[in-house]
Amino acid sequence: MAALVIGLGAASLLLLTYTYLSRLSSILKSTPEAVLKVSPKRWTKEELRQAYQRLEKNLITTKSYADRIPPKLDRRYIITGGSGLVGGYIVLQLLERGQSPESIRIVEFRPLNRADMLSGPASTVDFVKADISSAESTNNAFEKSWPSSVAHLPLTVFHTAAVIVPSDRSKLVYGLCESVNVRGTRNVLDAARKAGADVLISTSSGGVSIRPIELWISPVELLLSPKNKLPEIKNYLQVMDEKDFFEPPRKHEEHFANYAVSKARAERIVCGANSPELRTGSIRPANGVYGQPGDNTLGGSLAMSDCPTWCAHIIQPFVHGINVAIAHLDYEAVLAANPKAPQAGRPFMITDPNPPISYIDMYLAIETLATTPFKLIRLPPLPMWFLSYIVEWYSLLPVKYPFLRRILPELKGDIKHMKPGLFSVTTHMVATNENASRSVDEGGLGFRGVVTTLEGMVQEIVEWNVEHKGEKKAKKFQTSISFAEEIAKAAEAAGVMEKMGK
Ligand SMILES: *[C@@H]1O[C@H](CO)[C@@H](O)[C@H](O)[C@H]1NC(C)=O
Repeated sequence: MAALVIGLGAASLLLLTYTYLSRLSSILKSTPEAVLKVSPKRWTKEELRQAYQRLEKNLITTKSYADRIPPKLDRRYIITGGSGLVGGYIVLQLLERGQSPESIRIVEFRPLNRADMLSGPASTVDFVKADISSAESTNNAFEKSWPSSVAHLPLTVFHTAAVIVPSDRSKLVYGLCESVNVRGTRNVLDAARKAGADVLISTSSGGVSIRPIELWISPVELLLSPKNKLPEIKNYLQVMDEKDFFEPPRKHEEHFANYAVSKARAERIVCGANSPELRTGSIRPANGVYGQPGDNTLGGSLAMSDCPTWCAHIIQPFVHGINVAIAHLDYEAVLAANPKAPQAGRPFMITDPNPPISYIDMYLAIETLATTPFKLIRLPPLPMWFLSYIVEWYSLLPVKYPFLRRILPELKGDIKHMKPGLFSVTTHMVATNENASRSVDEGGLGFRGVVTTLEGMVQEIVEWNVEHKGEKKAKKFQTSISFAEEIAKAAEAAGVMEKMGK
């Protein structure tokens, strides 16, 4: 009798657990109605092929949107991260509008590696290698003398340099983000002041506004709700905007990852430094930025012949580096013209001039157009979610217990990014640049994007195919995430991490 009761109890517990998990799983595979209303249309092979043919003949260059670049100013420019995804487009747009190469200085940690900057005027721009996490290195780069033809001109600084560490959220490993993104920003701000800059615009991140998604729903609530009306996971759908900036700063745990914590702090440092002598502000690109083979969004997927994904159904507001760069120049025009501009001292969110797309749109574009092999491997989200907690726990072990460092093998490849923060940054999102799009008279930047996500992504595939002509496999491009790992390794070797971690 007792055995029967226990047996029945165990069986119903198993059944409830199974029902709980399968319901949770179906929520995670769903796309909320609200976001489908904003983004109802999926890309088709037909329109992708047409766009490809059009762009193959007529690539989008700074010339094609020259009328949308704000007019030339009589100024000098320092661009930190000036050969990166956003910084590089800023340099190219400055040159297009007629700023002379000698009035521009790139301050960078990496060697110049963008194909579109290796020839022409961009290749003659002064390139100063610097590590912004060091005040001395930053000051040296800013204090270097200028050609006499431009030395007297007012100075604008575009601060785009940062490290991207996508999914770490533990305070124990916050050091790298703090040293480059926060300390580095302070160093750039100080150096800009010393060099006499009067406008400084930094690249922030839409990630600042993202909240961690909260997977766990109370079993009672989930099990009692009707099957066709399951409850929502908290923060499963988010709006990216600037609202949070006008509220008290969030706590560490209220951000999706350490990267966002550091970008939020850096943004507040930059905006808080605004004064009539040095006007400042930030641009927040939506999620994520693409537009070069080294980007993490499209470039990262292009480089994989087997592409595992659990987020094919996820809707996200991507933004092309070209659009982000233009927003920086729009902002500069406002702040350079008016020392008391009410636009100063705040962030502006920027996204592509079209509704957000779905990851499946991007994957279809790669499958349809890329000449390199690409196979989508669909994974169920829920088990990946469980795995992410294990990966996080495992990677923190050697941090918590240093003696384990020599014993535990390090995780290799993409699996090491599979931490819970990744699920928050790849959840359904909609972004708005309604404030940036307002006219300057109405307190906006007069921003209007020039590249749609479809054109921008297709163009990147055109360029990818040109780079891979006659090759069967993807060349390894360095994405900004792998770059961040390299910096972390270098810093570790120098023993800096130990100090920073404390
Ligand atoms: C637009 O800016 C105002 C402040 O000027 C802010 O209160 C509001 O939240 C912003 N809107 C969005 C959608 O970010």
